[in-house]
Amino acid sequence: MKKERYLVTSALPYANGPIHLGHIAGAYLPADIFVRYQRLKKQDVVFICGTDEHGVPITITAKNENSTPQQVVDKYYKIQKTSFEQLGISFDNFSRTSYKLHYETSQEFFLTLYNKNYLVEKKIKQFYCTHDKMFLSDRYVEGICPHCHTPGARGDQCEACGKWIEQTTLAEPQCKLCGNAPEIRETKHWFFKFGEFQDRLKKWINGKKDWKENVINFCNGWFNEGLQDRAVTRDLDWGVPVPLDEANGKVLYVWFDAPIGYISSTKEWAQKKGDPDLWKKYWMDKNTKLIHFIGKDNIVFHAIFFPAMLIGCDNYVMPENVPANEFLNIEGSKLSTSKNYAI
Ligand code: 2FM
Ligand code: ZN
Repeated sequence: MKKERYLVTSALPYANGPIHLGHIAGAYLPADIFVRYQRLKKQDVVFICGTDEHGVPITITAKNENSTPQQVVDKYYKIQKTSFEQLGISFDNFSRTSYKLHYETSQEFFLTLYNKNYLVEKKIKQFYCTHDKMFLSDRYVEGICPHCHTPGARGDQCEACGKWIEQTTLAEPQCKLCGNAPEIRETKHWFFKFGEFQDRLKKWINGKKDWKENVINFCNGWFNEGLQDRAVTRDLDWGVPVPLDEANGKVLYVWFDAPIGYISSTKEWAQKKGDPDLWKKYWMDKNTKLIHFIGKDNIVFHAIFFPAMLIGCDNYVMPENVPANEFLNIEGSKLSTSKNYAI
């Protein structure tokens, strides 16, 4: 009988703390069970993961631990890798998004989309902290969510209602570092034209008969609101540099480069096997079943954002399924590394 080919990924954990039970229950144990089952059936399976080493979760941890982002990711990469080994999670490759191969892969991806006119440059208003002398990307700013009015909403997304936030619409914004109210300044960023992919994504997702209902409903909520252009670059000094001369000092948004980490980790696996082109069989041959195991807070990125990037680049397979699992709670609250609430 012909073997089925599976490329299975587990969400790349931020290298900003030890792995906790919430991670294991959501994205790693279910994937490991699935992978072991397919291996027993003698299917062709590659199980991919690695640490997500960019973005504000890392730079804020560095500040809190009085160290540097590089020290933070080096420390937690080792701790997380050891935990996964000791738990027996059977990844075929566990990579890092700080590797050169990942930088090259992400920059190439950006340039492909740029050359196809899917990325557009815009001047926008952002919060700037005059005390810390920096633009407050993503989690550097908190305030009251403009959609559900919950306090403590971050500059990129509200955890309470799950919606994305245009940061300057936050009420009572505060810099996460010093607590001061930021001012608004102009900056330049590159936006991905998500709207151009809405019809294709909507048709694709609503044609899926075996996806979890919560994933399809969540995506339809996004389609009903209409997909908008989103900035995929940031004013930060930690991340993958934007590969354009005029982007001096800007880096890719962590949610742009992180899912590309699945591709670069597969490339690394192929190199280690002594067959550097082998990754293409898994990412570019339409017979591959690509399965992303994630926690439910990552649905939009894996079912909408990354698939749009894959369509934009043209020659990649699309996810066969995006099993998103519920949160593991303790005493009614979600486990969280950044909130230091975990086992
Ligand atoms: O939520 C998180 O922990 C993210 N680091 C998951 C990234 S998944 C993938 F896109 F890399
Ligand atoms: Zn500040």
